[in-house]
Amino acid sequence: MQLLVCVTLVSAFAVYVSGAALDGPKVGLAWANGNNIPLTNFLTPHVGAIHTWSPHCPDGSNSIQCYQMLWGADSGRITDFNNTVKPAGGNKNVILGFNEPNEAGQSNLSPQVACIFWHSIIEPRAKEGYTLVSPATSNAPGGIQWMQQFFQCCSDCTVNAMAVHWFGTSVSSFESWVSQWHVVFNNRDVLVTEYGFQDFNGQQHSADEVVAFYKSVGTWMDQQPWIKKYFPFGFIPSPQSGNPAALMTADGQPTALGLMILNEAY
Ligand SMILES: *[C@@H]1O[C@H](CO)[C@@H](O)[C@H](O)[C@H]1NC(C)=O
Repeated sequence: MQLLVCVTLVSAFAVYVSGAALDGPKVGLAWANGNNIPLTNFLTPHVGAIHTWSPHCPDGSNSIQCYQMLWGADSGRITDFNNTVKPAGGNKNVILGFNEPNEAGQSNLSPQVACIFWHSIIEPRAKEGYTLVSPATSNAPGGIQWMQQFFQCCSDCTVNAMAVHWFGTSVSSFESWVSQWHVVFNNRDVLVTEYGFQDFNGQQHSADEVVAFYKSVGTWMDQQPWIKKYFPFGFIPSPQSGNPAALMTADGQPTALGLMILNEAY
């Protein structure tokens, strides 16, 4: 009887264990700078992973996990992905699915078409040792529904963990949106592969308000064992004047806010 209970518990959880590949320091670099900006100033002991919205890993990223992404399903990206992604090993053990397929201006895929390409291009990588992470929808209202429909046609797919994006200004909205991904999708681990303070109504916010936001959500994410990584958006060169949410200076250094996150100094 005791044994039976154990076996049942193990099999109930086994399907969604994302594995050691997602463990380690939680801060991630969402890195659109290729090799143009040296990674050195961004690699603190708190940084565990990088993704580049592509299967490519920049120079100097060997000391952290590099998550390789199939951004979209156009033939150029599929060929690049096939040619670049080798069997898992070293610092390459995680694959990220499509980027914002629910957005016309992003990878723009219906759940059904995304399933077809998951089956043919991404799923074979599970057998090569990869941990597979879901597509990442935007936090537009239909994001959850897109993902539920994806799982209806991809019920046999290996999806070890969920990815999610979020932009806004409310800490409580952030926490409830991210929590939904864990609860609705069978307690899978979650990677927040893009998040940022952004006011879609164009209102100005003080630097104190922006810092308070990142402190609150960072503290909260560090406390949730099912949140494995979070990638603030973005470490891209930006003038700081008038932009209290800038994480990188115009000449490629972390801002004070960027450093706070890179050091988990909440
Ligand atoms: C990519 O690789 C998959 C198998 O992993 C294969 O089915 C597919 O045809 C390949 N596509 C291209 C464009 O190379």
